[in-house]
Amino acid sequence: MNHDVILEVRGITKFFPPNILANYKVDLTLRRGEIHALLGENGAGKSTLARIIYGECKPDEGEILVEGRRVKLRGPRDAIRLGIGMVHQHFRLVESMTVAENVALVAAKRLILPVREVRDRLREFARKYELDVDPDAYIWQLSVGERQRVEILKALYAGARILILDEPTTALSPLERRRLFTALKRLKDDGYSVLLITHRLEEALQSDRITVMRRGRVVATIRPEEVSREELARMMVGRVVRTGNYVKRPSSRRSAPLLEVEDLWVMSDKGVYAVRGVCLKVWEGEILGLVGEAGNGQRELVEAITGLRRVEKGRVIIAGEDVTNAGARRIAELGVAHIPEDRLRYGLAPGLSLIDNYLLRKYYKSEYRRGPFIDYGKAEEELMRAVNEYRIVTPSLRVPALLLSGGNMQKLILARELSEAHRLIIASHPTYGLDVATAEFVRRFLVRERNRGSGILLVSEDLEEAMALSDRVAIINRGRIV
Ligand SMILES: Nc1ncnc2c1ncn2[C@@H]1O[C@H](COP(=O)(O)OP(=O)(O)OP(=O)(O)O)[C@@H](O)[C@H]1O
Ligand SMILES: [Mg+2]
Repeated sequence: MNHDVILEVRGITKFFPPNILANYKVDLTLRRGEIHALLGENGAGKSTLARIIYGECKPDEGEILVEGRRVKLRGPRDAIRLGIGMVHQHFRLVESMTVAENVALVAAKRLILPVREVRDRLREFARKYELDVDPDAYIWQLSVGERQRVEILKALYAGARILILDEPTTALSPLERRRLFTALKRLKDDGYSVLLITHRLEEALQSDRITVMRRGRVVATIRPEEVSREELARMMVGRVVRTGNYVKRPSSRRSAPLLEVEDLWVMSDKGVYAVRGVCLKVWEGEILGLVGEAGNGQRELVEAITGLRRVEKGRVIIAGEDVTNAGARRIAELGVAHIPEDRLRYGLAPGLSLIDNYLLRKYYKSEYRRGPFIDYGKAEEELMRAVNEYRIVTPSLRVPALLLSGGNMQKLILARELSEAHRLIIASHPTYGLDVATAEFVRRFLVRERNRGSGILLVSEDLEEAMALSDRVAIINRGRIV
């Protein structure tokens, strides 16, 4: 027995009826003090494997060994007791409680939450691993990066020595992504082991070892110095993905602006101005890229434009109509599509089926009704087409949306939001969480819509992506266009 190995997974198989083999004979070893990347496309089976290791999901076959001993996991509690911690793809924090309270909840067997003790421990973790967040801030006030640090701190506080992170960088800005890696390296140097789920090649290449999964199986476990980017991409996808080279029709003659934002002032949840006098215009047949690191007012700006947040001062005009502080539904009815940043919060009803989620914003429209009834036939036909186009992996249209993998949930929202003709598309980070092939499909889709005359506001942190797609690029910093 190799004492270096802290966790071993042997021959794990998990079948989801009727026809999904999420894991098939998966083997994996995690060493002490290593960052091990688990790489794979949307639906490859990464989260399923993580949930099995964390005791949230029972495998049909196979075994798990911790420090050489076979363990039986009846639930996450057993995993936590064995020193396994997990940060989920979608966070599980209590919004209305503070950071310290959320962390203290881990030890909630006691009646009174040990908040003071937690504060001290949080300070210690912050110093050692560069994981700082204000213990007294409320979760709803935090950025995605801060929330994630809270999740990691929770796991550390519970005594985890093995950390499983499920796509931790999906919604992080490049800066926060670098911070996370700094923290992970510190943890690793201190003897922690990290299983890092990702579909970003550059992240896998920064890890100590990489296990590539495809369609539920392990394709290979390798060291980064043994492969090139291209080889790694091919292992992951099983074929070559063509990117770039977008065919853009020359911009149409500028007739009318579709979106006009005039001297807009909007507050953040923290009660300070997040958008400070922004002016911008999006014309027919163009993509305006709005680039900046997350947290510079993009979210508040988009929410104000789409009717989800109050405008304090200034005007929003869509297709010539003043819609300042008009409701979200009225704005949507003007032909505005919105791909929200926080897709699960605004995006999906996890308990409803795929088809009901697809109909969520359409059911009242006449084309989806037959008399007093909803015309499921029409919706199903459309959704089937989208399932093929976006390659959404699902056993059927009738299963609850929460059974989809993270990336496939994103695809479902995109499919719904983009299923109708739109004059104006507000797309916040539309390729977050998508594997290479699907991301490319979405980019091509946006360009096609532009060529048909739609106006698109593309909010992105990825300068390269924004430059490749946009006709013009604006930079946002601290609530102002610079
Ligand atoms: N509880 C469940 N019931 C039925 N099918 C499920 C369930 N959980 C996951 N699946 C299916 O198993 C497959 C693997 O899903 P998993 O979430 O492990 O993928 P993933 O690699 O994490 O993908 P992503 O990158 O999109 O998050 C998917 O096809 C998913 O729809
Ligand atoms: Mg996943």
